[in-house]
Amino acid sequence: MPADPPLFYRRHVFCCTNTRPAGHPRGCCSEKGSEKLRNYMKARAKELGLADVRINAAGCLDRCELGPTMVIYPEGVWYGYRSTADLDEILETHLVAGGRVERLMLMPVAPEHLASQFKDATLPPVLATPVMIMAMENAALNAIRPFLEPPETALGTAVDVRHLAATPAGQHVRAEAQVTKVDGRRIEFALSARDDTEEIGRGTHERMVVDHDRIARRLASKRKP
Ligand code: FES
Repeated sequence: MPADPPLFYRRHVFCCTNTRPAGHPRGCCSEKGSEKLRNYMKARAKELGLADVRINAAGCLDRCELGPTMVIYPEGVWYGYRSTADLDEILETHLVAGGRVERLMLMPVAPEHLASQFKDATLPPVLATPVMIMAMENAALNAIRPFLEPPETALGTAVDVRHLAATPAGQHVRAEAQVTKVDGRRIEFALSARDDTEEIGRGTHERMVVDHDRIARRLASKRKP
């Protein structure tokens, strides 16, 4: 077999911009703004001088429930993204510096995420509820992260979530959070989570904006001498 030719592009990015009719059960990336986001990424890549990186619009990548989605070759890393801030992070961290934006990567459910391993061997091999809630809480924190000013952070203070469907190992889970109310330091969210097939969780959540240093002092006062 002849050797493969050298790469034509150092990185080749495919962003799904597929449109499906309104109300389609799988949804589509374009209804979540993928076309504008892809155009933003292409323009920013040019501004950053990434001449050896190609940002292409693509048809359906068949991961519609997790969209908007993109895949970067030759490494084959998949991302789900929502905002220009997400794309800036992918550009800077992955395409410029060669790293990975772990919080946006589409990672499969691993054996250690299953109730049978995470909680109790008598339970079936399905995604454990606390792992799903952790993904939802992370989505909530990520939604407000750009608005926090150091040393601010936001602690989870309430969760009310229903686990609607079972997810086996190998499927991908994506959580989303939307701010529904801001009352002083208290922020409320609507949460949802999907796997590759369907919605698997839904609920509400509350976080409180706190001073990181003040929390550290309070913890120190609780430590026994
Ligand atoms: S519509 Fe984007 S992955 Fe299918």
